[in-house]
Amino acid sequence: MHIVDLIAAKRDGQAIGAEDLHRLIAGYTATDIPDYQMAAFLMAGYLRGFTDAETVALTDAMLASGDRLDLSELSGPTVDKHSTGGVGDSTTLVVAPLAAELGMQIIKLSGRGLGFTGGTLDKLESIPGMRTDLTTADLVAQVDRIGLAVCAQTDDLVPADRAMYALRDVTATVGNTALIASSIMSKKLAGGAHAILLDVKVGSGAFMKTVGDARELAEVCVALGTSAGRATRAVITDMSQPLADTVGNAIEVREAIEVLRGDRHSRFAELCLDLAGHLAALSGTAPDAAAGRELAARALHSGAGLDRFRMLIEAQGGDPRVVEDTSLLPIAPISLPIHATQDAWLATVDAEAVGRASGALGAGRETLGAVIDPAVGLALDVKIGDRVHDGQVIGRILARTGDEARRGEHAVLAALGWSAQAIQAPPLIHAVVDPPASGPDHRPMARTAAHVS
Ligand code: URA
Repeated sequence: MHIVDLIAAKRDGQAIGAEDLHRLIAGYTATDIPDYQMAAFLMAGYLRGFTDAETVALTDAMLASGDRLDLSELSGPTVDKHSTGGVGDSTTLVVAPLAAELGMQIIKLSGRGLGFTGGTLDKLESIPGMRTDLTTADLVAQVDRIGLAVCAQTDDLVPADRAMYALRDVTATVGNTALIASSIMSKKLAGGAHAILLDVKVGSGAFMKTVGDARELAEVCVALGTSAGRATRAVITDMSQPLADTVGNAIEVREAIEVLRGDRHSRFAELCLDLAGHLAALSGTAPDAAAGRELAARALHSGAGLDRFRMLIEAQGGDPRVVEDTSLLPIAPISLPIHATQDAWLATVDAEAVGRASGALGAGRETLGAVIDPAVGLALDVKIGDRVHDGQVIGRILARTGDEARRGEHAVLAALGWSAQAIQAPPLIHAVVDPPASGPDHRPMARTAAHVS
């Protein structure tokens, strides 16, 4: 089909065949098809939706646009974990060492922060000397040696997604379940791991604002992974408030180290253990997620997880002494306490606004390629359901200047909603999504635009 006819067919709600979708993606990756035609197609698809078969074909075509990691030299079980993105979400820093300690080989290709969400690479690079640009050969050798690597995706993996994601970002076409699922799963499939755990975030600090939309995305991703022969599970987790108690880069690494030391008991620490448990179950390392969680808790409390994190830092050129002495991590000169302004229960948090407040301090970037400041960020010590007293210190801002700190404090306070009555804490995990017993072909797939930002 000619590209203009293909756009017209999608605009008019007709299904597009796999061959045409492959030619579209290949043509766009080769820059034979210009941005304006791909943008028109994406908008038509955003509005009309995609059938199950189209979603599978789109994912295959994106996967075929570049290389795949060859993990055949690894004895396995190879595992990967992906978060759809949130605020204060540094689970990889804790889960990856625990998974390696449990005998899994974890290859984590991570991203950078964009907009209000943080990125694992930025966080890791706040450790002095830490490199995240490993070659495929170095990555495989490192995983073989110490069981884990956390690094940037190489340019030759799913180049179609890089170009399409940048275009979707500026044409208001990110928020379609099939487009998000094919974007995520083409990268996960190219990453080569046998077991894939998806952490689909839902709430005010996530792409997905409702559990229904998160479940739809989770089901499509699980179906795509399963039909490609990978053991795939999704966990829908709460992002109605920042997950960790800190938001930023070095400050989140500090918190992750404290969790691995066993010094912090928090929702964040609990979720890390849950995710490690699910990975263990998915990879066959434990009989089920509860048993896997128990093994992960033991690895954490024995200090073995922290040792594994030290190995990761050392292997990627970072200063391993940070695990004993977190003062070696960069820290901004101004530390301004945030005070509660009433006696009340914390009822709501606009987590996206908290993420933006951290970004405005310099911890995030609005455009890819912008430079971030690893030393700034914020801590919010209260969670939904906590009771506070007027004047109580509920967090702090780490900033370069007093003005920036005061603006940050104002933004965080504006993001909090209070109640005069006791409030129930939200669940940490809303649902676990596995492939249906009847097989992936019967799963509902994305037909409509999801209600995401
Ligand atoms: N994350 C991705 O990798 N792709 C999307 O489309 C959205 C979130």
